[in-house]
Formats: sequence, C-alpha cells, structure tokens
Amino acid sequence: MDELQCCVTSCEKPLDKVYWDNQYQSNTIGWDLGEVSPPLKNYIDTLKDKNIQFLIPGCGNTYEAKYLLEQGFTNVTVIDIAPTLIENLKNKFENNSNINIVLGDFFEHQGEYDIILEQTFFCALPPTMRQKYVWKMHQLLANKGKIAGLLFNRTFESGPPFGGSQNEYNLLFQQSFDFLKMEICQNSVTPRAGSELFIEFQKNSEVLVNLYPFEGITCNGCKNTVSDKLSALESVLNVNMSANFSEVLIVSQNEVALETLQKEIAYDSKYKIGNKL
Ligand SMILES: C[S@@+](CC[C@H](N)C(=O)[O-])C[C@H]1O[C@@H](n2cnc3c(N)ncnc32)[C@H](O)[C@@H]1O
Repeated sequence: MDELQCCVTSCEKPLDKVYWDNQYQSNTIGWDLGEVSPPLKNYIDTLKDKNIQFLIPGCGNTYEAKYLLEQGFTNVTVIDIAPTLIENLKNKFENNSNINIVLGDFFEHQGEYDIILEQTFFCALPPTMRQKYVWKMHQLLANKGKIAGLLFNRTFESGPPFGGSQNEYNLLFQQSFDFLKMEICQNSVTPRAGSELFIEFQKNSEVLVNLYPFEGITCNGCKNTVSDKLSALESVLNVNMSANFSEVLIVSQNEVALETLQKEIAYDSKYKIGNKL
C-alpha cells in the first residue's frame, strides 16, 4: 500500500484570502509578468467576436483584461479573492463599463461564460482542489464554452505554484472537456520556456460533471480500488479522486443515483460518499 502523502501547503499554509491579500500588500508577486502573457495575447488575437463573454479567475493585475479591452472586447469579468488587489483594479479600470470586477472566491461565483482564461490560477490552488476546479469550470461555461490558457508541465519543490503534467491533466479533464489543444507552449516568457502547456479545452455539454464529498480512504491502494469500482458503474465515464481523498469527481452520461454510488462502496463500512455539491 502506498503511503498517504500529506499536502504540505494545505496543512501548513492555508492559501486563503488573507494569504493572497498579504502577497499584494507586501508586493510579493513574483508571478506577475507586468504585461499580457504572450501566449494569451496570441490566442486573443485569433478571436473575432468582440462580444465573447470572458471570465478571468484569480486575475491578479490582469494585463490580459486590459489587452482584451484595448482590442475592443465588451464583456470581460475578472474575479480575485484578494481585496487589496481588487481595490486597485477598480481604480485602474474606473468608468469602463466593459469590465466587471468581482471580489470573491471563484468557487462561489455564478455566471455563464464563453471563454475562461487560465493564467497561473490553477497552479496557485492547493492540488487537493483540482477536481473542484474541473467541476466549477464545467459549471461556469456555456454550451461549447472553452478554457484557454497555460498549465505548468513541470514540478516545483514547494508551492505555490504547484506543478503538474500532461498525463495528470489528461486524467483530470477527460470526458468533462474535449481537448482541442494541449501542447508545449512555443512563446512562453523566458523563465517559463518549455515548462508550460498551452491548453484549449472545450466543455463537453453531453455529460454530467458532479463532485461528491468522500470519507474513509487512507491510501492510494484503496483509492484505486474505489475508483475502479465507481468507474465500472453503468454510464460513468470518468472518476477522479482528490489528492487528499476528500472529494471525488464523477463524469457520467446520465444521472447516477447517490444510493447506487453508496451501494458500490458499501463493501467497506468506513467509506462514505455524500450528496453532490
Ligand atoms: C499566482 S496568482 C496569479 C495572478 C494572475 N493570474 C497572474 O498571472 O498574474 C493567483 C491569484 O489567484 C487568486 N486566488 C487564489 N485563490 C482564489 C480563489 N479561490 N478565488 C479567486 N481568486 C483566487 C490570488 O489572489 C492571486 O491573485
């Protein structure tokens, strides 16, 4: 049986509103490029419809939003959890009715968007939240909507940022999204050259993507057994368990009753699956 790996960051350093606000207050923002990210600029330049509804989660200083507005896009929403940053953005974009600046938690946000731009937001989240990210992205996108942007294709000693790999992203996003593009980015900024994947994932609107709280798993061996059992259920297309085993993402063709899921894991009484979020 594999050892359970403690997620150092989520245990020792909560990546919450206070943490992120402190980074802006102390200007410890090493991730900030000071300009629109070149791969995103190139991507934006390919888009013709100026009324596309954009969301930029974990937007930071959002040079991407500035660029979108300069190019005449009329419907840009940015959201970030850090109050100091959002105050600055409200001053920066004062009187511009084409941008909606939201202070809040991405995971609480409601709306419907055509394109969600990803730029060092996914990697800033505790890795235990990756299944929730997929679930929330799927929920916020309109039919055929897309996530476009950058994901790291490398590991880091400690995070944030937290790394990942193409293989991990394949397993995580498969079935919820169609992969229009996932390739090594050719025009990353120099310090990130060769270590980023440019992604364009299109929402698969034919499936249901649900996230369930889970209890009772303590090792990767049990995780694999439970995942295999749930994957074998009729209409289930993908099962992906969070790194701390507390949530499970289930993609299915049709609604799967909670009782069906519960029955499948009832072979061990310590396993509990709760109502979907
Ligand atoms: C590494 S920074 C990236 C900022 C920006 N995207 C950039 O590339 O410059 C991560 C950002 O995500 C924000 N953030 C973290 N958790 C969040 C959450 N749950 N909801 C909204 N924003 C969040 C942080 O405040 C921070 O601005």
